[in-house]
Amino acid sequence: MNDFIAALPKAELHLHIEGSFEPELMFEIAQRNQIEIPYKTIDEVKKAYQFSCLQDFLDIYYAGAGVLIHEQDFYDLAMAYYQKCYENNVIHTEIMFDPQTHTERGIAFETVINGLQKARLEAKEKWGINSLFIMSYLRHLSEESAFETLKQSLPYKDLITSVGLDSSEMGNPPIKFKNVFEASVKEGYIPVAHAGEEGPTEYIWEAIDVLKVARIDHGNRCLEDENLVNEIVKRDLALTVCPLSNLELRNTDVMTNHPLKKLLDKGIKATVNSDDPAYFGGYMNANFVAVQEALNLSKEDILTLVKNSFNYSFATYEQKKIYLEKVYEVVNEFNS
Ligand code: HPA
Ligand code: ZN
Repeated sequence: MNDFIAALPKAELHLHIEGSFEPELMFEIAQRNQIEIPYKTIDEVKKAYQFSCLQDFLDIYYAGAGVLIHEQDFYDLAMAYYQKCYENNVIHTEIMFDPQTHTERGIAFETVINGLQKARLEAKEKWGINSLFIMSYLRHLSEESAFETLKQSLPYKDLITSVGLDSSEMGNPPIKFKNVFEASVKEGYIPVAHAGEEGPTEYIWEAIDVLKVARIDHGNRCLEDENLVNEIVKRDLALTVCPLSNLELRNTDVMTNHPLKKLLDKGIKATVNSDDPAYFGGYMNANFVAVQEALNLSKEDILTLVKNSFNYSFATYEQKKIYLEKVYEVVNEFNS
């Protein structure tokens, strides 16, 4: 089963590039930028990665991102993630980045996007990996700040596919960003949003009815409202589920209670993703393996999840066809 998971080509639809910042690279960049970080050893860093909730994690995540200053830093960060994609057979990825995490510290939008773009071109060239960018607004900040970010993004509009909404969910409902999402859609960005990770089902309703999202990030808590489940199925909205993240942030007590299989059984188009792999202990294959073992998922289930990842990506119809052919090549190999 693990070989099957590893061999399958996959798409990742929920990944924060700042969350792929491995401690080793963080030390290296902190040193070259002469920034103090509150850890002396990699072991100390790993010990700090014990979270009791989303906010606990976010505090450490923003602190880590604080060492990123130069275009080269963003390039190095993204190249390290693409290398993991290559190792995990992720052939298409939709990468979220949080401009405000950097612009709030005085780093130019341009520095961030140029570093990421340089890595994207190189990853395509070196490993054939396709990737799209999702610019995520930080929901603990104001809608005005999101509008400022939207404005800064416009010269780079052709490089960005989608807008998202992340950070502290409780107390920051999707409706707070109604206007900026409308304006973002007018600029051609596809809307997605984190909803129902920690927040209540009302936030998922708002994400779909008010922000009119094309996909829901996390969305696990939709199972608490049968009408919502029916609506998600009816509107054919995919969920980008992140098993190891859910476990590490205590949204799931033990993996055997993870809602993934229930979501699939309800007819929801769920996908598996790594969210912030450097913080939650694993990239794509590790997420698949963890949830497969805990929930005893069949090969059919794995195949459904992988097909969902391509079908509900923002790739073109033509690209999707090619991706699915590659998936079936591997399936046939394993069946022969
Ligand atoms: N949830 C909300 N905000 C985030 C996350 C997440 O899982 N990762 C990075 N920012
Ligand atoms: Zn996320």
